[in-house]
Formats: sequence, structure tokens, C-alpha cells
Amino acid sequence: MHDALPNRTHTEAIERELETVPPAPVAARLAAVPGSPLRDILALTDRPEVVSFAGGLPDPGLFDQAGLRAAFHEVLAHSALRVLQYSRTEGDPELRDALATRLSRRGLPTSADDVLITTGSQQALAVSATALLDPGDTVVVEDPSYLAALQCFRLAGARVVPLPPQGGGLNPELLLETVRRERPKVLYVVPNFQNPTGHTLSRAVRAQIARIAAVHGLWIVEDDPYGDLRYRGEPLPALAAHAGAEDRTLLLGSFSKTLAPGLRLGWIRMPQTVRRALVVAKQSADLHTSTLDQAAVARYLAQAPVDEHLARLREAYRTRLATMLEGLPDTLPHGSTWSVPDGGMFLWARLPDGWDTEASLPHALRRNVAYVPGAPFFAGTPVRASLRLSFTTHAPQDITAGLARLAAALKQQGKN
Ligand SMILES: Cc1ncc(COP(=O)(O)O)c(C=O)c1O
Repeated sequence: MHDALPNRTHTEAIERELETVPPAPVAARLAAVPGSPLRDILALTDRPEVVSFAGGLPDPGLFDQAGLRAAFHEVLAHSALRVLQYSRTEGDPELRDALATRLSRRGLPTSADDVLITTGSQQALAVSATALLDPGDTVVVEDPSYLAALQCFRLAGARVVPLPPQGGGLNPELLLETVRRERPKVLYVVPNFQNPTGHTLSRAVRAQIARIAAVHGLWIVEDDPYGDLRYRGEPLPALAAHAGAEDRTLLLGSFSKTLAPGLRLGWIRMPQTVRRALVVAKQSADLHTSTLDQAAVARYLAQAPVDEHLARLREAYRTRLATMLEGLPDTLPHGSTWSVPDGGMFLWARLPDGWDTEASLPHALRRNVAYVPGAPFFAGTPVRASLRLSFTTHAPQDITAGLARLAAALKQQGKN
């Protein structure tokens, strides 16, 4: 028989411990992973008077509000019981099917079974890292690279090895040398209009990367949220389309930059060998992506003139990029250089040596203009004189006004 009353000595011991023992520290693997300084900057720029070149934000004025409203209305009106229910981890069958068709049209033969729907492509990165990486594994990345991807790899316990750019983009000879030396398991690339540099990998470089991956047993995480936003030149074949790379490339996509980031909808086109691992990794994260959002976007893709919407976006962003490029010579200090991207949302500038764009940011913010300092994007030695400018969020006249403010802030700082 147990005593009905708690043992007095135990009770006293518990009370004593509760008073004196602090909780254990959070997981050690998080200590080595910095938070995103970009999120902090976005908090500072969330005021209507600020012209922000900081975030990779689409212009909300270009969202197809009417089309999305109609799609949500229809799925709720006709399929409420299904779209409000739990659903499969792999994703909505109609949406997977629609994506498979779109990918196949781009020269990537894809069946619905090859597609995993994710909660934004950020989750695609997280589940890819969980599925592919053990602690201590090595990931090779372009340097600079997309910050939140670096976070995912580090959280998975991976060693991140940067590949310094040569001639603006990834250098295949340097990649080969690094692969031989570091024996990585994964290569992470943003092939189109890279974040943060705006750079696009050439056709020849893509073929060489695919070959290196094939010969050295590398997984490729090909992160392509910007591919549909091309403003000049012909689309280039995906790494996943190259012979030798088909069975080892996870191709990640997103509706964030083309439809709306608030939908939080992305996907992975995956080789079947990694499918189970990805599905289990996603199950543990969120069971599945919102049934309602998936169904609404599947409906939207089926009935809205999506290609016209994309053409409108490209037209608007092409003009904004041109406006920014036109304004930069009078904005940045003499001796600065910058990328001239073929698409996407960003351009990357390098001020003359001696400039520190982190130190300049408060001066810019005081004048109600924002950008992102380049240093946090580097996995290797940061270039403190670099910065990233997004040209998509604001209309051309606001870009011009923002650049005038930036010019004034930099000029004032240059004199100090
Ligand atoms: C290269 C890259 N990958 C992935 C993402 C994540 O986008 P989302 O989760 O909104 O699809 C971004 C967002 O800016 C990005 O620039």
C-alpha cells in the first residue's frame, strides 16, 4: 500500500530544489548559430516613411489579390470539409500535379510523386538539411550565400565550407579543389539571380558542377526561388536536368516571390531515393503544410492566368532594376562596383576599401532608407564594404527618392 499523503521528506526536497536549481541551458547546437540580422533590420524598417532596399519583399501592390481571393473563396465554398481537415505530408495531389506539369514543361520530367510540398522553401531547406546531414558532415556553399540556409546547415550540425567567388560567381576549378580536399556531402547553390549577389551560374558552369557532383558523390541542394523572375536573356537548364545530377539534386522552389510570401508555400523536386527521409523530416516539423493554402493555390494555378501575372511582375521589376542601376553611380561613393543581375530581387555592391556598411546603416536609417550590410552573408571572411540592395519592393519614383537619401547618408559619413 502506498501512503495517501506525500512523503514529507520528499516534499521538502522538491521545494528546496524548485527554489534553487535553474533550468538547463538551451541546446548547445544553437549557441553556435547566430540569429538573422536581417530580421532585426526588417523590424527597424517597418515604418511607412522608410524606403527599404533591405528585405527580399515582393511589392504587395503586385499581389493578385482578386485571383487569390477567388481561389480561397471557391475551395472554402465547395470543398470546406476537405480543405479544413488534416491531410497528407507529401502535399495536396492537385498542387503536386500542377507543379509536376510546370516543371516538366521546363525540361525537368517530373511526376506528382517526385514533388514534396513544404511550408515555404525555407522549410524545404530545413528538411533537406535534416534528411541529408549528420553532425560533422560538410556542406560547401557559395560565399556570400543565403543566410538562412547557412542557419539550417549549422543547426543540423554540419561544417560549412565557403567557396569564395572568383569572377563574380562559383568557380568550378575551386569547387573541384575544395571537394577533393574537404570531402563534402552536400553542395548548396542558388543558380539563378543569387541571394545576395544577383549572380547567375552560366550554362557551362552548371554542366561542370553537375559533373563534379556525379564524380564525387555529392548531393546538390539547388535552391531556386527566383527562377521565374528573369528580366533578360534565356532561361538556363536547372542543375537537376543534367545527366549525372538527376539522381542527386534536390530542386527547391517557392511561391513566395511570385504569388505571395504569406502563403508560406514551397516545394522540393526530389529523387525517389531521398523521398522517405524528406517525408519523415517534414512530418516531425509540421505534419503537413496548410491544407487550405495548398488547395487554394492549386485552384489558382488551374483557373488564373498565371503566366500573365508572371509577365506583369517581370515587367514591373525589370523597370525597377533599371531605375536602381541608373541611380547607383550618383549614390555610392566613387570607386564602388555593383552586380548587374539578369533577374531576381537583389543587386550587390562593393564600396571602396575602408567602408564598413554595418557602421553606415544607422546613418541611412536616420534618413529613412535601409539596405542590408553584406558581412552577415559570408560564411568565410566577410567583406565589410559590401551591401545588398533589393529593388522590388518600391515603385520607381520611391527607388529614386530612396537612393537620394542613401547618397546623402553615405556622403555625410564619407566626410566624417
Ligand atoms: C535563396 C532563398 N532560398 C529560400 C528562401 C526562403 O523563401 P520562402 O521560405 O519564403 O519560400 C529565400 C527567401 O528570401 C531565399 O532568398
